[in-house]
Amino acid sequence: MIKTPICRLLDIEHPIALGGMGSASSPAMTAAVSRAGGLGAMGCHYLTPEQIRERVVATRKETNKPFGMNFLLFDVREDGFAMALELRPAVMQFAWARADQDLKPYFDRSHEVGCKITYMAGTVPEAVRAAKAGADVIIAQGSEGGGHVGWMGAMPLIPMVVDAVGPVPVLAAGGFADGRGLVAALALGAQGILLGTRFLASVESPLHPNFKKAIVDSDGHDTQLSEIPDLAAGLVWPGAMTRSRRNRFIERWAGREWALRQHRAEALASIRAARSSGDTAEAVLSMGQDAGLIHEILPAAEIVARIAREAEEILSKRLPQTIRH
Ligand SMILES: Cc1cc2nc3c(=O)[nH]c(=O)nc-3n(C[C@H](O)[C@H](O)[C@H](O)COP(=O)(O)O)c2cc1C
Repeated sequence: MIKTPICRLLDIEHPIALGGMGSASSPAMTAAVSRAGGLGAMGCHYLTPEQIRERVVATRKETNKPFGMNFLLFDVREDGFAMALELRPAVMQFAWARADQDLKPYFDRSHEVGCKITYMAGTVPEAVRAAKAGADVIIAQGSEGGGHVGWMGAMPLIPMVVDAVGPVPVLAAGGFADGRGLVAALALGAQGILLGTRFLASVESPLHPNFKKAIVDSDGHDTQLSEIPDLAAGLVWPGAMTRSRRNRFIERWAGREWALRQHRAEALASIRAARSSGDTAEAVLSMGQDAGLIHEILPAAEIVARIAREAEEILSKRLPQTIRH
């Protein structure tokens, strides 16, 4: 079994974590990953304090294993965050603070109630800033990933972050979907991986079945970075673009962002309608390039188990054979 120090730090069996996804999160998915020995996470963005409480209660009904609660700091709501602190999750999983935002009050308040803190960063300076503010774990996120990502690819970013924030442990994110990815992350100096897209195509994922199928059907070459989803939503995300499938909606506005600003309300209403009806051409389908590695919808527990098994097999059998004395 693959164990890294982060397993003890976060009280998990496998160094495999679920990304907190505010737009695609459910107690069933969170609990399934934690029950399988990974670290589940609940996206708290967009939720009211009461919804946060209900989802934590529902998750805790399914598992007593640790999980994280995810907050996007640039847009955090104090009442939701206060509710999360009251509920005392094992981990507070933060991401995307504004450059002028002080991380320390959020980290200190989380530590005071006994939470461990992870912070997701897409650049070295952002990772260093979070480590200095007291994060227990840095998640280095490469631009291959789904949803909001920065500009640096995982391959150079991960070892740079490892070197910059050590001894603070690092989890690798962005483009990881299988055991090969876990081994690569370990080789780059990370202590495990965090996955979004792979778990979106799980049985427990709350996504519309058509969207899960779109991930399975993707060859990984059909995603695109753009500001189009944020322009439609009227959000200014600090330093990020969105990686989503290059579908009819994205193609309509690419290069015509000025026009999208003009037609924001209709565009937003249309993507919301497409999201609920499962229209894969007109919705925003956030997914990473690793969609090309995802060929079936599996139970989340099976995803965790397969990644752990495959990584162990590579490390114990395939890689040792490459050494010649
Ligand atoms: C649909 C979607 C929504 C996401 N929402 C959030 C979020 O609310 N907070 C966050 O920290 N990360 C969010 N992420 C990023 C993930 O936490 C993770 O970094 C990313 O999915 C990793 O890349 P991968 O998709 O290739 O695994 C989201 C990703 C996706 C695909």
